[in-house]
Formats: sequence, structure tokens, C-alpha cells
Amino acid sequence: MDKDKLFAQALPQVVDFKFDESVSRVFPDMIRRSVPGYEAIIELTGSIAEKYAQPATNIYDLGCALGASMLSMSSTINQESIQYIGIDNSAAMLEECQKILQPVIPRHQFQLIEGQVEDAAIDNACIVVMNFTLQFINPALRDQLVGRIYQGLIPDGVFIVSEKIDFSNDQESTLQQQLHEQFKISNGYSELEISQKRIALEQVMILDDREQHLDRLRRAGFKNAVQWFQSFNFASFVGVKE
Ligand SMILES: C[S@@+](CC[C@H](N)C(=O)[O-])C[C@H]1O[C@@H](n2cnc3c(N)ncnc32)[C@H](O)[C@@H]1O
Repeated sequence: MDKDKLFAQALPQVVDFKFDESVSRVFPDMIRRSVPGYEAIIELTGSIAEKYAQPATNIYDLGCALGASMLSMSSTINQESIQYIGIDNSAAMLEECQKILQPVIPRHQFQLIEGQVEDAAIDNACIVVMNFTLQFINPALRDQLVGRIYQGLIPDGVFIVSEKIDFSNDQESTLQQQLHEQFKISNGYSELEISQKRIALEQVMILDDREQHLDRLRRAGFKNAVQWFQSFNFASFVGVKE
């Protein structure tokens, strides 16, 4: 696994962050050193999925990147009739994902689709996972997308959405940001790396707070929606379709 040094040198101009080939090469290292609780969320996605898996249905991983959530779910779910559908708009990510899934492909049905999650057809789904991707979707399109996810789920289906979150309280927001920054420093990122990456993400990653996430899930139809995880300013929510 390559070490993430993408922002280690002073860049003449910091451009908007893209999930291109340079990112796909270092992504496992980048996400583990940047997202507190990432491994726990991925592992527990598998555990939650085991409870909601239903035979002859689809499991969607929206913004699948290198397929970590699909790998986790396929390790806990023992049902060959389930089709895993990973959707991502980065060809570089999907190319790596295909290689990573190779060892488990013989035991499961995987389909990788290069495309916009906003346009994805979602149907006959027992589980939809969207880990750290809704934050990259145009805020004006988020309600509609979550509404379509709800419609595409079968009864007793579950939607898992994990995100970096904002806070309505300024004091809490500042403290959580400081704690997150310390997490990255403890993981070897320099002040320069942290500040250049922050600039690169500023225009492309737009955060919602906890209430906005839960309100959106309820507006979409999920009467049963809760936050089940938080590590500093990263959180995960589930909505169950009754
Ligand atoms: C932070 S990564 C997701 C990580 C992954 N879910 C995991 O848990 O390891 C965000 C992913 O979403 C993809 N992405 C961003 N916007 C997208 C869109 N509009 N449609 C499809 N994929 C998108 C990116 O290419 C990237 O692979």
C-alpha cells in the first residue's frame, strides 16, 4: 500500500480534490489516517448488513471507492443469491476495486458500475450503503437521492450513511475540528498537508450536521432513523424501512 504524500510538498496552486489515479493509489492509507473510526464503521457495516440481508436481493455500495464496505458485508453475509452493486464515478477507483475484490469474486456476485450515484437505478435493495460519499453530492440533490434510496429498498431494508459532520454549535464545532486535526497529526500528517488538503476539499465536500442528516432520512420516509456511531466529527446513521 502506497503512503499518502499527496499534500506533503508546498503546491504552487491547490486545486479541487479529485478521486483520480494518484488518490486511488494511496486511498487505503489516506482514509485510515484521516477518518477516525473508519475501520470500525467498515467492520460494523458488515455486522449491520448481516442482520438485514435477504435472499435474491441487491446490496448497493454508493461511492464504493475500493470496495471496503462490500468486502466487509460479503464476509459476514452467507447468501449467494445476493448481488452486490458498487457504483462510483472514478474509473481509477473502480479499476483498483476490481483487483481488490478478485479473491472473493468466486463466492459472490459483484457488479461495478462507473457512473453518478445521483443517476443510479436502485431497486430490490435489502441494504444501501453510502460511506463518506453523500458529502460530495450537490446539496440540492441530496434529498432526492435519499428519497430514491428509500423507494428502492424492500420492506425491512436498511440504509447506512456515514459522513464527516458539521455542528450547529460553534464551540462544539471548533473542539471537534481540533480533535480531528490532532488525530491527523498523531497519524503523521504535517500542518502543511492538513491545510493544503483542507483547501482542496473546501469547494467539493459540503457537510451537513446531525439534525440535517436525521431530518433528511425522516423526510425520505425512514420513520426509524438513528445515529449509531460517532468519532469526533465523523458519524454514521441508519434508516430502516418498515
Ligand atoms: C471518500 S470516498 C468513499 C469511500 C468508500 N465508500 C469507503 O468507505 O471506503 C468517496 C467516493 O465517492 C465517489 N464519488 C464522489 N462523488 C460521486 C458521484 N457523484 N457519483 C459517484 N461516485 C462519486 C468518489 O470517486 C470516491 O471513490
